[in-house]
Amino acid sequence: MTNSPTTSANQMWGGRFASGPDAIMTAINASIGFDKRLYAQDIAGSRAHAAMLAATGILVPSDAEAIGEGLLTVLSEIEAGNFVFSTALEDIHMNVEQRLKDIIGAPAGRLHTARSRNDQVAVDFRLWVRDQCDAAITGLTALMQAFLAQAEAGTDWAMPGFTHLQTAQPVTWGHHMLAYVEMLARDKSRFEDARRRMNECPLGAAALAGTSFPIDRHMTAAALGFDRPTANSLDSVSDRDFALEFLSASSICAMHLSRFAEELVIWSSAQFRFVRLSDKWTTGSSIMPQKKNPDAAELLRAKLGRILGATVALFTIMKGLALTYSKDMQEDKEQVFDAADTLMLALAAMTGMVSDMTANRDVLAQSAASGFSTATDLADWLVRALNLPFRDAHHVTGTLVAMAEKKGCDLPDLTITEMKSVHDGITQEVYSVLGVENSVRSRTSYGGTSPVRVAEQVSRWKALLG
Ligand code: ARG
Repeated sequence: MTNSPTTSANQMWGGRFASGPDAIMTAINASIGFDKRLYAQDIAGSRAHAAMLAATGILVPSDAEAIGEGLLTVLSEIEAGNFVFSTALEDIHMNVEQRLKDIIGAPAGRLHTARSRNDQVAVDFRLWVRDQCDAAITGLTALMQAFLAQAEAGTDWAMPGFTHLQTAQPVTWGHHMLAYVEMLARDKSRFEDARRRMNECPLGAAALAGTSFPIDRHMTAAALGFDRPTANSLDSVSDRDFALEFLSASSICAMHLSRFAEELVIWSSAQFRFVRLSDKWTTGSSIMPQKKNPDAAELLRAKLGRILGATVALFTIMKGLALTYSKDMQEDKEQVFDAADTLMLALAAMTGMVSDMTANRDVLAQSAASGFSTATDLADWLVRALNLPFRDAHHVTGTLVAMAEKKGCDLPDLTITEMKSVHDGITQEVYSVLGVENSVRSRTSYGGTSPVRVAEQVSRWKALLG
């Protein structure tokens, strides 16, 4: 059974069609429901195109002027919320053009000279994704600053460092915070890099083969802030790498956010109490009055699911598509829109949460000293002071740890007699390396956790971030 056509044949392309599309065809085919988000980019692209058509003598100046002015009217109508989007007109490109025709009449029909919706959507979407790269870079910079402020406050606060989520060695709070600054800096450079690569203008590739009109693609590229026009018309209309790169960079970034989110969930628990999250980023329970749930952190832990989902979706959409444009590619936008919205919200939420959290310095210090966290310092001392091979030192230390564990005490609580019973070369001096403060202070290798090294990195980042 078919539904009756929604309209008569499409005015933009329906010359050879006797009837309009089936209603369900309209529903599956129309993209206006989501691509109206590209209105500003679409109008900017059309204005650049019209100006170029006039400059190259393809349009008479009066037509180009009417088009340029009319497009500004359309823009203000959309921005004022007065624009009626039509599903029958499929997408943002035809909605804008039809409205232009209503406003300026016949010259509107000349705008599509030497252009196709294939290069039009390619340029619109590139402009939109380019803006999102800028937004991600701004959001990441703010988040890096929030982590940096935390690092600066606690360059020398001891805390346990973990591997396998088991106490490994004492580290400093500042060092842990700066680990995220490093990750986010890589994220930022991925967006900068993707932005640089995507900054070529596909407008003028027309449907797929270029055009016989004497257009000036360098002019439109420059007008739209691109570095240059794309060099191959087939590639221009079939490429969505820029969206895939944006999604890939977003996925890696969201993965980083999810890792700190997980640490916050653990650290804010009653069992850890490493940090206190602000009331602004937590919720209560309707039944358990004592609860303060780290909902924002949990949601941030989850957001990668959506963003990576969008990434996998677009890869799957693009996989195996023969050149050049295929309508499959219309499915790109909702994925990227949702991923971008999610990422910007996640960055903003994480920035707020990091800025507002308070480290429990005493709990961190106490915890840093537990779990035999300075066992490596003891082994290193045996190597340095007694010239033991590291493997032997490791074994001696392991025996001392087992002894302390049995006794129910920490390493510094073992008596010198007990120490000597395991290796008689051990002297009183060993106790100086068993303290947490000493342990972190000693790790002065480049990139290490020592407060001096951390302070240097804080200065470096402050200079870089301004
Ligand atoms: N709405 C379309 C999209 O998003 C625009 C390009 C349509 N091109 C075409 N040949 N039907 O991809």
